[in-house]
Amino acid sequence: MSVQDLLSQPLEATTPISPEVLADPHPFNARLRREAPVYRCPHSGIVFVSDYDTVRTVAKDHQTFSNRFGQAMRGAGEVDPRILEAQNEGYPPVDTMLTQDPPLHRRYRGMVNQAFTARRVATLEPYIESLCHDLIDGFASAGACEFVDAFAERVPMTVIANQLGVPLSDYDLFKAWSDAFVAQLSRMASPDEELAAVKLIVEFQKYFAGKLEERRREPTDDILSDIVHARFEDQRPLDVPEMLSILQQLLVAGNETTTHCLSEGMLLLVENPDQFALLKADSSLVENFTEEVLRLASPTANMWRVTTQDTRLGELQLPAGTMVQLRYASANRDEHVYPTPDVLDVVRDNARTNLAFGYGVHMCIGASLARKELNVAFRVLVERLEDLELGCARADLHYAPNVLLRGMSRLPLRCRVRARSAA
Ligand code: HEM
Repeated sequence: MSVQDLLSQPLEATTPISPEVLADPHPFNARLRREAPVYRCPHSGIVFVSDYDTVRTVAKDHQTFSNRFGQAMRGAGEVDPRILEAQNEGYPPVDTMLTQDPPLHRRYRGMVNQAFTARRVATLEPYIESLCHDLIDGFASAGACEFVDAFAERVPMTVIANQLGVPLSDYDLFKAWSDAFVAQLSRMASPDEELAAVKLIVEFQKYFAGKLEERRREPTDDILSDIVHARFEDQRPLDVPEMLSILQQLLVAGNETTTHCLSEGMLLLVENPDQFALLKADSSLVENFTEEVLRLASPTANMWRVTTQDTRLGELQLPAGTMVQLRYASANRDEHVYPTPDVLDVVRDNARTNLAFGYGVHMCIGASLARKELNVAFRVLVERLEDLELGCARADLHYAPNVLLRGMSRLPLRCRVRARSAA
């Protein structure tokens, strides 16, 4: 059944995390905001929050709405014995930043905060700019590319590999590991896919445990060394599972999301030639365009919380232990905050109030880095690409179903590429 069909049925006819809704969430989210902005799904008992104000209220109240949802995310109930066996080959999962609450959360976050400050990130601008030019040069003569593979995946993956201090020759491994984490997070994988993902994750753990040991013996100037040599207040170093958990988050949270923003941004430019023309005429609008892309793409579309105590939210009474899903992608299209919410408007005056990076203590640690990558990439793309066209039918663009992250897996494009300016 399509989402359009579902819209004529009672809300209870589906769940907000059904594959149909995940494939095309915006019309369903609009209905949730209108009819039940705080909605308890009768099938799962999960409470879905979809309007801007309530999403922000929940994200701010970390005492009542905890991020200790790690176990739920890893999956509850019966686990395939083959998966258990594969997991036992690796290090146990631990809850560090994303799936931890204060005060421990703050301590873990403090271990890597320095690497992501706006000041440190600003120094990366020339490196990111030159990388973007090189990637565009790679498809310039063809006048066509599959944008996700040729550009959108490569920018964040290359930058984070550089910052972590791992060799780019291992790019294909990072990509495979990042995909494995995303498959696990999607909660849509079959047991065989899940098993393949677990095996790759164990491979990731062994690779990085080796690199961390190298840095312990011989420190260098990169995030891996920072992590190995970081100390808690009582001088305890992080243990290997804690370090791996932090690295996993940097790899997945940083790559997939930025990739999705880059590809969604290009699709928005293809579909809105008037807005593309505005950016071409005035590149100072690119930063606001980035905010509109973040708002409309919302690659971290949804995120979990779990209640620590009985509480009231909207019209509902929530017992302790209730799973709550924050629908960031929906909040970012709340018509009470963003008039004509589905429209790209590069001069929208409140675009930067979007919640794409979350809100409160868990607000994205990589927001400055992601904004820098997006601003630089879009500036270079707008400057060099012309006559943008989709290289496939619109209906052939595919969004892999995932309960938390959203983005397209391929984006064939045709374009004319201007030569790199001499400056
Ligand atoms: C466009 C790109 C990005 C988007 C849309 C995004 C989105 C988000 C969101 C919504 C959260 C909050 C989750 C919550 O509410 O619990 C978050 C947290 C996080 N993000 Fe990002 N992110 C992006 C890029 C990055 C980058 C580049 C990195 C690092 C390399 C990163 C690392 C993290 C980490 C480690 C957390 C957990 C922080 C904590 O719990 O304190 N993200 N991100």
